[in-house]
Amino acid sequence: MEKRKLGASGLYINPVGLGCMGFSHASGDPTEKSVAVKTLREAYEIGYDFFDTAEAYTGVSPDGTVSYNEELVGEAVKGIRDKVVIATKMGVRHNEDRSLRLDSSPETIRKSVEGSLKKLGTDYIDLYYQHRIDPKVEPEVVAETMAELIKEGKIRCWGISETTEEYLRRAHAVCPVTAIENRYSMMARWHESIFPVCEELDIAYVAFSPMANGFLTGKYTPSTKFEGSQDYRANMPQYTEEGYAKAKDLLDMLTKLAEEKNATMGQLSLAWMINKKPFIVPIPGSRKIERLKENFESGNIVVTKDEIAAIDAKLDTMSFEVFGGHRAK
Ligand SMILES: NC(=O)c1ccc[n+]([C@@H]2O[C@H](COP(=O)([O-])OP(=O)(O)OC[C@H]3O[C@@H](n4cnc5c(N)ncnc54)[C@H](OP(=O)(O)O)[C@@H]3O)[C@@H](O)[C@H]2O)c1
Repeated sequence: MEKRKLGASGLYINPVGLGCMGFSHASGDPTEKSVAVKTLREAYEIGYDFFDTAEAYTGVSPDGTVSYNEELVGEAVKGIRDKVVIATKMGVRHNEDRSLRLDSSPETIRKSVEGSLKKLGTDYIDLYYQHRIDPKVEPEVVAETMAELIKEGKIRCWGISETTEEYLRRAHAVCPVTAIENRYSMMARWHESIFPVCEELDIAYVAFSPMANGFLTGKYTPSTKFEGSQDYRANMPQYTEEGYAKAKDLLDMLTKLAEEKNATMGQLSLAWMINKKPFIVPIPGSRKIERLKENFESGNIVVTKDEIAAIDAKLDTMSFEVFGGHRAK
């Protein structure tokens, strides 16, 4: 599997990264710490070298224990810190009702970076994202703070999650942005218009929720019950009767394509974007070893430009009910 470059940072990673969120956030009760750490370490053994976490990825177990995702990742990479690229994020807190509180003020960025370094048990963060645009803070101010953190050696490079083109260009002019992390999947293609900007400015596009929160694996049905509390999928529109009905043609297309390629539907949905652009890196998340292996293997599947164009042409004729992010408060 050929490594791809992470923007102009000089860092190289495998074409499939690991979304670590589900071990403690949004996917049911948090995974027990020792199990999570062991699984994350096994992910490294499988080949994952790019771990995506965030300050905001926390969850509470039924016994009241708080799970901090960054602590799990930090523990898992002990002894192999220099062999992996860790991305984490600041600027977002969750309200009780799951809406977001945004704060990217320089003071908060500074406080957050110290907290993340401590939880990760490291003295540098490879890639530090602004988790969401804070309308109260200009991009230049965020970029200047990130430039200071780079100079101080606390972070190696920075990125923006769910950015717009205008915000990205303004921020990049002050301190070069290495990666953006925006939603992207066969069901969520509204950010494709930013691809030429990534190409022009040499910025990686890290694709989050690349399998539409697992939906594109085809492993779920309208009667699937998501276990535990705190599982956001229970309320996602794609997992409703109507959502399944709208996605029927897509799931049929994926079933057929997967058969032709001797792959799984999930693998095909990842290989489609990996083969589309050399700067795209999907970060599927799973807490199960077999699925981690399956997802990682998608980096070995070839989908030709003609096949991608044919898939896109079909996708253009479809519309979906799909989870599109949180409301900001
Ligand atoms: N920047 C942002 O704002 C933002 C927002 C959302 C997510 N993210 C990042 O993106 C990562 C991935 O996003 P995501 O978890 O929302 O969506 P995803 O990767 O599209 O889907 C993950 C879900 O699919 C299931 N799954 C994974 N592989 C599977 C397989 N082979 N077969 C069947 N089911 C499978 C997982 O369940 P199991 O764990 O049970 O396998 C998990 O619930 C997160 O971990 C996080 O790091 C970032």
